[in-house]
Amino acid sequence: MGKRILITGGAGYIGSHTAVELQNAGYEVVIVDNLSNSNENVIDGITRITGIRPAFEKLDCNDKEGMRAVFAKYPGIEGIIHFAASKAVGESVQKPLLYYRNNLVSLMNLLELMPEFDVKGIVFSSSCTVYGQPDILPVDESAPIKPALSPYGNTKQICEEIVRDTIHAGAPFRAILLRYFNPIGAHPSAEIGELPLGVPQNLIPYLTQTAIGIRQELSVFGNDYNTPDGSCIRDYINVVDLAKAHVIAMGRMIEKKSENNIETFNLGTGRGVSVLELINSFERATGVKVPHKIVGRREGDIEQVWANPEYANNVLGWKAVETLDDTLASAWKWQVRLREKGIM
Ligand code: NAD
Ligand code: WQD
Repeated sequence: MGKRILITGGAGYIGSHTAVELQNAGYEVVIVDNLSNSNENVIDGITRITGIRPAFEKLDCNDKEGMRAVFAKYPGIEGIIHFAASKAVGESVQKPLLYYRNNLVSLMNLLELMPEFDVKGIVFSSSCTVYGQPDILPVDESAPIKPALSPYGNTKQICEEIVRDTIHAGAPFRAILLRYFNPIGAHPSAEIGELPLGVPQNLIPYLTQTAIGIRQELSVFGNDYNTPDGSCIRDYINVVDLAKAHVIAMGRMIEKKSENNIETFNLGTGRGVSVLELINSFERATGVKVPHKIVGRREGDIEQVWANPEYANNVLGWKAVETLDDTLASAWKWQVRLREKGIM
């Protein structure tokens, strides 16, 4: 039996891809997810890819007694990857308390339970959103944290502080904070991928839904930014590349390879891509046209941000390797699969 890892939010987009990579690397995976933004079928997808069915518990991480029972039922959990969170920026502005409760309480429950069950470490899903609009690009981990633009972004900043303060207070475990840039794409098998409920707020699901005819037209939010083509720039990272970084981070943490009890890594490609470049790339990679129009700026959007991933490259020995074209082709294959299955 491999080392046992708890993945909260493991039925979700990034968590499911990480479950696959952890199982491929020989870990034993236990997934806790309340299915608030996912579907139990995802567990079948993970099983079809890896040939191994991960343990699954439908449970809310805010339920502390329920979580305690999970640790008791699966003894010897060595590490946790905490993906479970609410993540829709717009919704967080409407329902801030839902976001603060869900994202903060679930983390605090885990941090309180870890010593009881001798868990060696926790990997926390943070975000490039903590940098706001950085003064220096590409942005590295030493850049200042800017005031959050949404309650969601604020939960990521506060969660990072909660983890840092807990480690500094001498907690008997380690932590790694991973700041993701913009995860996109799907597993190449198209067995798992991103499954947005309702009208997508993020670029790639809106784009693929437009390409397949569910949406009429993609709106490009602004072409008057101070960027080469006027549209916003992001660092789009392949979700499988991202998942693989978690496997390395987990090994490093539970085998205590670092001198530090807490570490923070950017996970990005190091390349900034504009919205218009991305549409071109999608059309080139798939041969499918994306009807689009330029509209006004979206409130709260950052003009441009991309990662300096050198610290993760050098220290974790991890690098994003998938091309943007291949990644967009995987997102398209997933959208086509959803159509074939009659899901969308
Ligand atoms: P997702 O919504 O697909 O996955 C999150 C999963 O957690 C879902 O399956 C949901 O049902 C579950 N969940 C939510 N609250 C829960 C709770 N209280 N108890 C149990 N399960 C719960 O999101 P994702 O894109 O896979 O994101 C995973 C993590 O990465 C989140 O913490 C998110 O904030 C962070 N992140 C995501 C992005 C992104 O663009 N996708 C970028 C940076 C950071
Ligand atoms: C990407 C680009 C839009 C939709 C959000 C969160 C952030 C992080 C990742 C978790 C932007 C443009 C989008 C559309 C468009 N999540 N766009 N038309 O805004 O970089 O980040 O997800 O931590 O916190 O804020 O991602 O996919 O929404 O947008 O032109 O219909 O696409 O303006 O430039 P974003 P996104």
